Amino acid sequence: MTSFGIDIDPQVDDSITTMLAGVETALRANVSSADPLIAEAARHLMDAGGKRFRPLLVALAAQFGDPQAADIVPAALVVELTHLATLYHDDVMDEAAVRRGAPSANARWGNSVAILVGDFLFARAADIAATLGVEAVRLQASTFSRLVHGQIAETAGPRGTDPIEHYLHVIAEKTASLMATSARYGGMFSGAAPEHVEALAGYGEAIGVAFQLSDDLLDISSESVQSGKTPGTDLREGVPTLPVLYALAGDDTDASAVRLRELLSSGPLVDDALHAEALGLLRESAALKRARETVRSYAEEARTSLAPLPDGTPRRAMEALCDFIADRTS
Ligand code: IPE
Ligand code: IPE
Ligand code: MG
Ligand code: MG
Repeated sequence: MTSFGIDIDPQVDDSITTMLAGVETALRANVSSADPLIAEAARHLMDAGGKRFRPLLVALAAQFGDPQAADIVPAALVVELTHLATLYHDDVMDEAAVRRGAPSANARWGNSVAILVGDFLFARAADIAATLGVEAVRLQASTFSRLVHGQIAETAGPRGTDPIEHYLHVIAEKTASLMATSARYGGMFSGAAPEHVEALAGYGEAIGVAFQLSDDLLDISSESVQSGKTPGTDLREGVPTLPVLYALAGDDTDASAVRLRELLSSGPLVDDALHAEALGLLRESAALKRARETVRSYAEEARTSLAPLPDGTPRRAMEALCDFIADRTS
């Protein structure tokens, strides 16, 4: 068992646990600053928790080369710091009050500090990427560019294109991009064979889409104790997620489906009673079930991407992660 809760072979597990412990220590060492406000605000979300899913992908992918290679921990730092930086910025954009079970940086220090600390963390990620060479820097830059394109596309909306296709494009760009790079880094810096590195990146991309979709489902179906966030935030902010888009696109004529479409098409649900009503209807909807099926199909695609990789315990661990994402509840 890793800290992430998937069942894996003890030897692979030891290697991953050791690597992730190294990442924890190095993360703390790498966000220090002489400025006490930056130092405190930069540590805030790191100390609050987080699943370290991207470092886990680096560690799993590194099993296809030499997992002890010196560049593996720095590669994991680059992806986790990049991710962390985007969380500071994302919570400003989404006006989120809670992150990782703690007050968001913007709630605690205001938007300016949250934005600047996010920038500081990007700078730290870039500095570490530079120690890995030009290719790592270029990948980090192109990944970050994809991520920003995703966030912008989400902000701008479908602009005349199909809303569901648009949404799937958004999450590939904003989330799967960094997951694909995490798996690619793990393969590259462990010295895995080039065709295996490509397979790993494909896996990261598909599991990234499944991961973000399952996160969206959690926003609807979980309680905040489980997710460390406020349930229904996307709904309140009018961020259309897959279950909402499926509900809007549906043509069911039963009273709950009709009422749900009416509520969802009225824009951001800021009124507490209407928000609670929509959340309740969504939780019971056919649209939520359909979205769950879509998550499973991406988890399956991730599994299929593993085909070029040698069979063995590392591959089985990556398959177990597909099952976990397809059914996750936290
Ligand atoms: C949150 O990512 C943002 C998404 C892309 C869904 P995680 O769910 O990996 O967040 P932490 O790192 O565990 O807090
Ligand atoms: C996460 O997006 C931020 C990025 C992937 C850049 P969301 O806004 O959908 O995720 P949460 O729900 O706040 O974690
Ligand atoms: Mg958000
Ligand atoms: Mg967001």
